[in-house]
Amino acid sequence: VLRALATPTIGHLDPAFGELMEEVAARLRSVFGTANRATLPVSGTGSAGMQAMVDNCVWPGERVVVGVAGAFGERMADALSRRGADVVRVEAAAWGRAIPIGDLVAALGSGADALFVVHGETSTGVLQPLDGLGEACAAAGALFMIDCVTSLAGAPLAVDEAGVDVAFSGTQKCLNCPPGLAPLTMSDRAVERLLGRDGPVPSWYFDLRAILAYWRSEVAGAPPRAYHHTAPINMVYGLHEALGLVLAEGLDERWERHRRAHDALRAALLCYGLERIAPAGEELVSLLAVSVPSGLSDEAAVRRALLLDHGIEISGGLGPLAGRAWRVGVMGEGARQEPQERLVSALGALLGASAAERRAAADALAHNWDTSVTHM
Ligand SMILES: Cc1ncc(COP(=O)(O)O)c(C=O)c1O
Repeated sequence: VLRALATPTIGHLDPAFGELMEEVAARLRSVFGTANRATLPVSGTGSAGMQAMVDNCVWPGERVVVGVAGAFGERMADALSRRGADVVRVEAAAWGRAIPIGDLVAALGSGADALFVVHGETSTGVLQPLDGLGEACAAAGALFMIDCVTSLAGAPLAVDEAGVDVAFSGTQKCLNCPPGLAPLTMSDRAVERLLGRDGPVPSWYFDLRAILAYWRSEVAGAPPRAYHHTAPINMVYGLHEALGLVLAEGLDERWERHRRAHDALRAALLCYGLERIAPAGEELVSLLAVSVPSGLSDEAAVRRALLLDHGIEISGGLGPLAGRAWRVGVMGEGARQEPQERLVSALGALLGASAAERRAAADALAHNWDTSVTHM
Protein backbone atom coordinates (compact mmCIF):
# COMPACT_ATOMS: atom_id res chain seq x y z
CA VAL A 1 0.00 0.00 0.00
CA LEU A 2 2.82 2.40 0.85
CA ARG A 3 4.50 1.64 -2.46
CA ALA A 4 1.22 2.31 -4.27
CA LEU A 5 1.00 5.67 -2.48
CA ALA A 6 4.35 6.59 -4.02
CA THR A 7 3.14 6.02 -7.60
CA PRO A 8 3.82 9.16 -9.68
CA THR A 9 0.88 11.55 -9.40
CA ILE A 10 -1.25 12.16 -12.49
CA GLY A 11 -3.93 14.77 -13.10
CA HIS A 12 -7.31 14.08 -11.54
CA LEU A 13 -9.13 14.60 -14.87
CA ASP A 14 -6.70 12.33 -16.71
CA PRO A 15 -8.77 9.51 -18.27
CA ALA A 16 -6.41 7.01 -16.60
CA PHE A 17 -7.42 8.42 -13.23
CA GLY A 18 -11.07 8.14 -14.25
CA GLU A 19 -10.52 4.43 -14.85
CA LEU A 20 -8.87 4.09 -11.46
CA MET A 21 -11.85 5.83 -9.83
CA GLU A 22 -14.22 3.35 -11.46
CA GLU A 23 -12.11 0.47 -10.21
CA VAL A 24 -11.95 1.85 -6.69
CA ALA A 25 -15.73 2.31 -6.68
CA ALA A 26 -16.22 -1.27 -7.93
CA ARG A 27 -13.85 -2.65 -5.27
CA LEU A 28 -15.61 -0.62 -2.58
CA ARG A 29 -18.94 -2.08 -3.69
CA SER A 30 -17.55 -5.59 -3.22
CA VAL A 31 -16.14 -4.78 0.21
CA PHE A 32 -19.33 -3.03 1.39
CA GLY A 33 -21.45 -5.87 -0.04
CA THR A 34 -23.58 -3.57 -2.12
CA ALA A 35 -24.75 -2.88 -5.64
CA ASN A 36 -25.20 0.82 -4.80
CA ARG A 37 -24.06 2.96 -7.72
CA ALA A 38 -23.36 5.79 -5.30
CA THR A 39 -20.27 4.29 -3.70
CA LEU A 40 -17.09 6.35 -3.42
CA PRO A 41 -14.34 7.47 -1.06
CA VAL A 42 -15.10 10.92 0.37
CA SER A 43 -11.94 13.07 0.59
CA GLY A 44 -10.98 13.30 4.26
CA THR A 45 -10.77 10.93 7.22
CA GLY A 46 -13.63 8.83 8.57
CA SER A 47 -15.28 11.89 10.12
CA ALA A 48 -15.59 13.39 6.63
CA GLY A 49 -17.80 10.42 5.77
CA MET A 50 -19.86 11.17 8.87
CA GLN A 51 -20.21 14.84 7.92
CA ALA A 52 -21.18 13.95 4.35
CA MET A 53 -23.85 11.60 5.70
CA VAL A 54 -25.22 14.23 8.09
CA ASP A 55 -25.21 17.08 5.57
CA ASN A 56 -26.80 15.13 2.72
CA CYS A 57 -29.22 12.76 4.42
CA VAL A 58 -30.74 14.84 7.21
CA TRP A 59 -32.55 18.17 7.00
CA PRO A 60 -33.20 20.52 9.94
CA GLY A 61 -36.16 19.53 12.10
CA GLU A 62 -36.09 15.88 11.03
CA ARG A 63 -36.44 13.23 13.69
CA VAL A 64 -33.38 10.98 13.83
CA VAL A 65 -33.07 8.04 16.20
CA VAL A 66 -29.41 7.71 17.26
CA GLY A 67 -27.93 4.76 19.08
CA VAL A 68 -25.43 6.03 21.64
CA ALA A 69 -23.20 3.45 23.30
CA GLY A 70 -19.84 5.16 23.21
CA ALA A 71 -17.75 8.08 21.93
CA PHE A 72 -18.63 7.67 18.25
CA GLY A 73 -22.38 7.48 18.87
CA GLU A 74 -21.97 10.65 20.96
CA ARG A 75 -20.05 12.30 18.11
CA MET A 76 -22.86 11.51 15.68
CA ALA A 77 -25.52 12.81 18.08
CA ASP A 78 -23.51 16.03 18.34
CA ALA A 79 -23.10 16.36 14.56
CA LEU A 80 -26.84 15.76 14.01
CA SER A 81 -27.78 18.32 16.68
CA ARG A 82 -25.56 20.89 14.93
CA ARG A 83 -27.47 20.10 11.73
CA GLY A 84 -30.69 21.02 13.54
CA ALA A 85 -32.09 17.48 13.67
CA ASP A 86 -34.49 16.40 16.39
CA VAL A 87 -32.18 13.79 17.92
CA VAL A 88 -33.79 10.90 19.79
CA ARG A 89 -31.06 9.16 21.77
CA VAL A 90 -31.32 5.44 22.48
CA GLU A 91 -28.60 4.34 24.85
CA ALA A 92 -27.00 1.05 25.85
CA ALA A 93 -27.26 -0.05 29.49
CA ALA A 94 -23.61 1.03 29.85
CA TRP A 95 -20.54 1.71 27.72
CA GLY A 96 -19.32 -1.77 26.86
CA ARG A 97 -22.76 -3.09 25.93
CA ALA A 98 -24.74 -3.16 22.67
CA ILE A 99 -28.07 -1.36 22.38
CA PRO A 100 -31.08 -3.71 22.49
CA ILE A 101 -32.61 -3.91 19.00
CA GLY A 102 -36.08 -3.65 20.54
CA ASP A 103 -35.24 -0.24 22.04
CA LEU A 104 -34.12 1.11 18.65
CA VAL A 105 -37.19 -0.28 16.88
CA ALA A 106 -39.48 1.10 19.59
CA ALA A 107 -37.98 4.59 19.17
CA LEU A 108 -38.64 4.37 15.42
CA GLY A 109 -42.21 3.33 16.04
CA SER A 110 -43.56 6.78 16.65
CA GLY A 111 -42.19 7.97 13.29
CA ALA A 112 -38.67 8.93 12.25
CA ASP A 113 -36.83 10.16 9.19
CA ALA A 114 -33.66 8.19 9.90
CA LEU A 115 -31.97 5.77 12.27
CA PHE A 116 -28.24 5.82 12.92
CA VAL A 117 -26.05 3.31 14.75
CA VAL A 118 -22.32 2.77 15.06
CA HIS A 119 -21.69 -0.79 13.86
CA GLY A 120 -18.27 -1.14 15.48
CA GLU A 121 -17.95 1.17 18.52
CA THR A 122 -14.19 1.69 18.75
CA SER A 123 -14.40 3.34 22.17
CA THR A 124 -15.84 0.22 23.82
CA GLY A 125 -14.99 -2.77 21.60
CA VAL A 126 -18.66 -3.58 21.04
CA LEU A 127 -20.31 -4.65 17.77
CA GLN A 128 -23.85 -3.37 17.46
CA PRO A 129 -26.08 -6.10 15.96
CA LEU A 130 -28.08 -4.80 12.99
CA ASP A 131 -30.67 -7.62 12.83
CA GLY A 132 -34.11 -6.40 11.94
CA LEU A 133 -33.15 -2.73 11.81
CA GLY A 134 -33.17 -2.57 8.00
CA GLU A 135 -36.72 -3.96 7.85
CA ALA A 136 -37.88 -1.69 10.68
CA CYS A 137 -36.46 1.37 8.90
CA ALA A 138 -37.99 0.39 5.57
CA ALA A 139 -41.38 -0.05 7.27
CA ALA A 140 -41.07 3.31 9.03
CA GLY A 141 -39.88 5.11 5.88
CA ALA A 142 -36.65 6.00 7.68
CA LEU A 143 -33.17 5.92 6.19
CA PHE A 144 -30.94 3.35 7.88
CA MET A 145 -27.48 4.85 8.40
CA ILE A 146 -24.40 3.26 9.96
CA ASP A 147 -20.80 4.05 10.87
CA CYS A 148 -18.67 1.04 9.89
CA VAL A 149 -15.27 2.71 10.33
CA THR A 150 -13.88 -0.07 12.51
CA SER A 151 -15.93 -3.01 11.25
CA LEU A 152 -15.56 -2.78 7.44
CA ALA A 153 -13.37 -5.64 6.14
CA GLY A 154 -12.82 -6.93 9.69
CA ALA A 155 -16.26 -8.03 10.88
CA PRO A 156 -19.02 -9.60 8.78
CA LEU A 157 -21.08 -6.89 7.11
CA ALA A 158 -23.06 -6.85 3.86
CA VAL A 159 -24.71 -3.49 3.51
CA ASP A 160 -27.46 -4.53 1.05
CA GLU A 161 -28.36 -7.68 2.98
CA ALA A 162 -28.64 -5.65 6.19
CA GLY A 163 -30.92 -3.12 4.49
CA VAL A 164 -28.52 -0.26 5.18
CA ASP A 165 -29.16 2.90 3.16
CA VAL A 166 -26.04 4.88 3.98
CA ALA A 167 -22.73 3.70 5.43
CA PHE A 168 -19.37 5.39 5.91
CA SER A 169 -15.99 4.02 6.89
CA GLY A 170 -12.34 5.04 7.13
CA THR A 171 -9.22 3.75 5.43
CA GLN A 172 -6.98 3.34 8.47
CA LYS A 173 -8.72 0.50 10.30
CA CYS A 174 -9.35 -2.96 8.80
CA LEU A 175 -8.76 -1.70 5.25
CA ASN A 176 -5.15 -1.30 6.33
CA CYS A 177 -4.32 1.93 4.53
CA PRO A 178 -3.14 5.27 5.94
CA PRO A 179 -5.91 7.65 7.08
CA GLY A 180 -7.23 10.11 4.51
CA LEU A 181 -10.32 8.78 2.75
CA ALA A 182 -13.82 7.90 3.94
CA PRO A 183 -15.48 5.17 1.87
CA LEU A 184 -19.19 5.90 1.64
CA THR A 185 -22.12 4.12 0.05
CA MET A 186 -25.71 5.29 -0.47
CA SER A 187 -28.74 3.33 -1.65
CA ASP A 188 -30.78 4.52 -4.64
CA ARG A 189 -33.52 5.39 -2.14
CA ALA A 190 -31.15 7.68 -0.22
CA VAL A 191 -29.81 9.26 -3.45
CA GLU A 192 -33.36 9.88 -4.74
CA ARG A 193 -34.30 11.48 -1.45
CA LEU A 194 -31.27 13.76 -1.71
CA LEU A 195 -31.87 14.70 -5.36
CA GLY A 196 -35.50 15.49 -4.55
CA ARG A 197 -34.68 17.88 -1.70
CA ASP A 198 -35.25 21.59 -1.91
CA GLY A 199 -32.40 23.90 -1.01
CA PRO A 200 -28.66 23.43 -0.92
CA VAL A 201 -26.64 20.95 1.09
CA PRO A 202 -25.20 23.07 3.92
CA SER A 203 -21.52 22.34 3.26
CA TRP A 204 -20.04 23.12 -0.12
CA TYR A 205 -17.26 20.55 0.23
CA PHE A 206 -19.44 17.59 1.21
CA ASP A 207 -22.24 18.27 -1.29
CA LEU A 208 -22.81 14.76 -2.60
CA ARG A 209 -25.00 15.98 -5.45
CA ALA A 210 -21.84 17.53 -6.89
CA ILE A 211 -19.42 14.85 -5.67
CA LEU A 212 -21.50 12.05 -7.21
CA ALA A 213 -21.26 13.84 -10.54
CA TYR A 214 -17.48 13.80 -10.15
CA TRP A 215 -17.15 10.20 -8.97
CA ARG A 216 -19.97 8.41 -10.71
CA SER A 217 -20.97 9.83 -14.04
CA GLU A 218 -23.83 7.36 -14.60
CA VAL A 219 -25.72 8.06 -11.37
CA ALA A 220 -29.29 8.87 -12.39
CA GLY A 221 -29.77 12.52 -13.12
CA ALA A 222 -26.09 13.37 -12.79
CA PRO A 223 -24.23 15.12 -15.61
CA PRO A 224 -21.00 13.62 -17.08
CA ARG A 225 -17.98 13.47 -14.76
CA ALA A 226 -17.31 17.05 -13.75
CA TYR A 227 -14.68 18.70 -11.61
CA HIS A 228 -15.76 19.41 -8.05
CA HIS A 229 -12.54 19.29 -6.02
CA THR A 230 -9.19 17.69 -6.73
CA ALA A 231 -9.26 14.11 -5.47
CA PRO A 232 -6.26 13.22 -3.27
CA ILE A 233 -4.75 11.21 -6.11
CA ASN A 234 -2.11 9.29 -4.20
CA MET A 235 -4.52 8.31 -1.42
CA VAL A 236 -6.76 6.88 -4.10
CA TYR A 237 -3.79 4.82 -5.38
CA GLY A 238 -3.26 3.57 -1.83
CA LEU A 239 -6.91 2.68 -1.29
CA HIS A 240 -7.04 0.93 -4.67
CA GLU A 241 -4.16 -1.29 -3.59
CA ALA A 242 -5.53 -1.86 -0.07
CA LEU A 243 -8.92 -2.91 -1.47
CA GLY A 244 -7.19 -5.19 -3.94
CA LEU A 245 -5.42 -6.92 -1.04
CA VAL A 246 -8.68 -7.30 0.89
CA LEU A 247 -10.42 -8.86 -2.10
CA ALA A 248 -7.46 -11.09 -2.94
CA GLU A 249 -7.58 -12.50 0.58
CA GLY A 250 -11.36 -12.88 0.31
CA LEU A 251 -13.87 -11.21 2.61
CA ASP A 252 -14.94 -14.43 4.34
CA GLU A 253 -11.32 -15.43 4.89
CA ARG A 254 -10.46 -11.97 6.20
CA TRP A 255 -13.39 -11.94 8.62
CA GLU A 256 -12.35 -15.42 9.78
CA ARG A 257 -8.74 -14.29 10.32
CA HIS A 258 -9.89 -11.30 12.38
CA ARG A 259 -12.14 -13.60 14.46
CA ARG A 260 -9.26 -16.00 15.05
CA ALA A 261 -6.90 -13.16 15.98
CA HIS A 262 -9.43 -11.72 18.41
CA ASP A 263 -10.02 -15.08 20.10
CA ALA A 264 -6.29 -15.79 20.29
CA LEU A 265 -5.43 -12.46 21.87
CA ARG A 266 -8.35 -12.64 24.24
CA ALA A 267 -7.27 -16.09 25.44
CA ALA A 268 -3.68 -14.91 25.93
CA LEU A 269 -4.57 -11.73 27.83
CA LEU A 270 -6.91 -13.69 30.10
CA CYS A 271 -3.77 -15.46 31.39
CA TYR A 272 -2.74 -12.06 32.82
CA GLY A 273 -6.21 -11.58 34.31
CA LEU A 274 -7.25 -9.08 31.63
CA GLU A 275 -10.97 -9.63 31.04
CA ARG A 276 -12.74 -8.50 27.88
CA ILE A 277 -15.30 -5.79 28.59
CA ALA A 278 -17.84 -6.80 25.93
CA PRO A 279 -19.87 -9.89 26.82
CA ALA A 280 -19.79 -12.86 24.44
CA GLY A 281 -21.91 -12.16 21.40
CA GLU A 282 -21.43 -8.38 21.59
CA GLU A 283 -17.68 -8.23 20.92
CA LEU A 284 -16.19 -6.26 18.05
CA VAL A 285 -13.60 -8.66 16.62
CA SER A 286 -11.38 -5.88 15.31
CA LEU A 287 -10.98 -4.16 18.66
CA LEU A 288 -10.35 -6.01 21.90
CA ALA A 289 -11.16 -3.80 24.90
CA VAL A 290 -10.10 -5.29 28.25
CA SER A 291 -10.36 -4.04 31.82
CA VAL A 292 -7.15 -2.65 33.28
CA PRO A 293 -5.92 -4.80 36.22
CA SER A 294 -7.46 -3.45 39.44
CA GLY A 295 -4.16 -3.27 41.33
CA LEU A 296 -2.38 -1.22 38.65
CA SER A 297 -1.84 2.36 39.83
CA ASP A 298 -0.61 3.91 36.57
CA GLU A 299 -2.07 2.24 33.49
CA ALA A 300 -0.84 5.04 31.23
CA ALA A 301 2.77 4.25 32.24
CA VAL A 302 2.36 0.70 30.94
CA ARG A 303 1.01 1.97 27.62
CA ARG A 304 3.85 4.49 27.41
CA ALA A 305 6.48 1.80 28.04
CA LEU A 306 4.86 -0.46 25.45
CA LEU A 307 5.16 2.33 22.90
CA LEU A 308 8.57 3.73 23.80
CA ASP A 309 10.39 0.50 24.71
CA HIS A 310 8.64 -1.98 22.42
CA GLY A 311 7.20 0.08 19.56
CA ILE A 312 3.68 -1.22 20.24
CA GLU A 313 0.76 1.15 20.62
CA ILE A 314 -2.42 0.28 22.45
CA SER A 315 -5.06 2.82 23.47
CA GLY A 316 -6.56 3.79 26.79
CA GLY A 317 -10.24 4.09 27.61
CA LEU A 318 -12.46 7.03 26.69
CA GLY A 319 -15.35 8.65 28.60
CA PRO A 320 -16.53 6.45 31.47
CA LEU A 321 -13.86 3.89 30.54
CA ALA A 322 -10.96 6.37 30.90
CA GLY A 323 -8.27 4.80 33.09
CA ARG A 324 -10.27 1.57 33.23
CA ALA A 325 -9.80 0.04 29.78
CA TRP A 326 -7.10 -0.87 27.34
CA ARG A 327 -8.12 -1.04 23.70
CA VAL A 328 -6.08 -3.22 21.39
CA GLY A 329 -6.50 -3.03 17.64
CA VAL A 330 -7.02 -6.37 15.88
CA MET A 331 -7.15 -4.82 12.44
CA GLY A 332 -5.71 -5.72 9.06
CA GLU A 333 -2.04 -6.67 9.39
CA GLY A 334 -2.35 -6.25 13.17
CA ALA A 335 -4.62 -9.28 13.17
CA ARG A 336 -1.66 -11.62 12.75
CA GLN A 337 0.12 -13.99 15.09
CA GLU A 338 3.55 -12.32 15.05
CA PRO A 339 2.55 -8.83 16.24
CA GLN A 340 0.30 -10.43 18.85
CA GLU A 341 3.20 -12.55 20.13
CA ARG A 342 5.27 -9.41 20.59
CA LEU A 343 2.45 -7.65 22.43
CA VAL A 344 1.71 -10.61 24.73
CA SER A 345 5.39 -11.01 25.57
CA ALA A 346 5.99 -7.29 26.21
CA LEU A 347 2.83 -6.88 28.27
CA GLY A 348 3.69 -9.92 30.38
CA ALA A 349 7.05 -8.37 31.24
CA LEU A 350 5.58 -4.92 31.98
CA LEU A 351 2.84 -6.35 34.21
CA GLY A 352 5.35 -8.50 36.13
CA ALA A 353 3.53 -11.71 35.19
CA SER A 354 5.08 -14.93 36.51
CA ALA A 355 7.02 -17.22 34.18
CA ALA A 356 4.12 -19.69 34.34
CA GLU A 357 1.60 -17.01 33.40
CA ARG A 358 3.76 -15.81 30.53
CA ARG A 359 4.15 -19.35 29.24
CA ALA A 360 0.41 -19.94 29.53
CA ALA A 361 -0.30 -16.72 27.61
CA ALA A 362 2.13 -17.63 24.82
CA ASP A 363 0.65 -21.15 24.64
CA ALA A 364 -2.92 -19.83 24.56
CA LEU A 365 -2.03 -17.53 21.69
CA ALA A 366 -0.23 -20.22 19.72
CA HIS A 367 -2.93 -22.79 20.40
CA ASN A 368 -5.67 -20.50 19.09
CA TRP A 369 -3.70 -19.76 15.92
CA ASP A 370 -2.69 -23.41 15.44
CA THR A 371 -6.22 -24.69 15.61
CA SER A 372 -7.03 -22.31 12.82
CA VAL A 373 -8.10 -23.32 9.35
CA THR A 374 -5.45 -21.54 7.26
CA HIS A 375 -2.43 -19.31 7.63
CA MET A 376 -1.91 -16.38 5.30
C1 LIG B 1 -16.22 4.19 14.95
C2 LIG B 1 -15.50 5.41 14.46
N1 LIG B 1 -16.20 6.35 13.83
C3 LIG B 1 -15.62 7.47 13.35
C4 LIG B 1 -14.27 7.68 13.50
C5 LIG B 1 -13.67 8.94 12.98
O1 LIG B 1 -12.73 8.68 12.00
P1 LIG B 1 -11.47 9.64 11.75
O2 LIG B 1 -10.74 9.73 13.06
O3 LIG B 1 -10.71 8.92 10.69
O4 LIG B 1 -11.99 10.95 11.31
C6 LIG B 1 -13.49 6.73 14.15
C7 LIG B 1 -12.05 6.93 14.36
O5 LIG B 1 -11.40 6.23 15.06
C8 LIG B 1 -14.12 5.56 14.65
O6 LIG B 1 -13.42 4.63 15.28
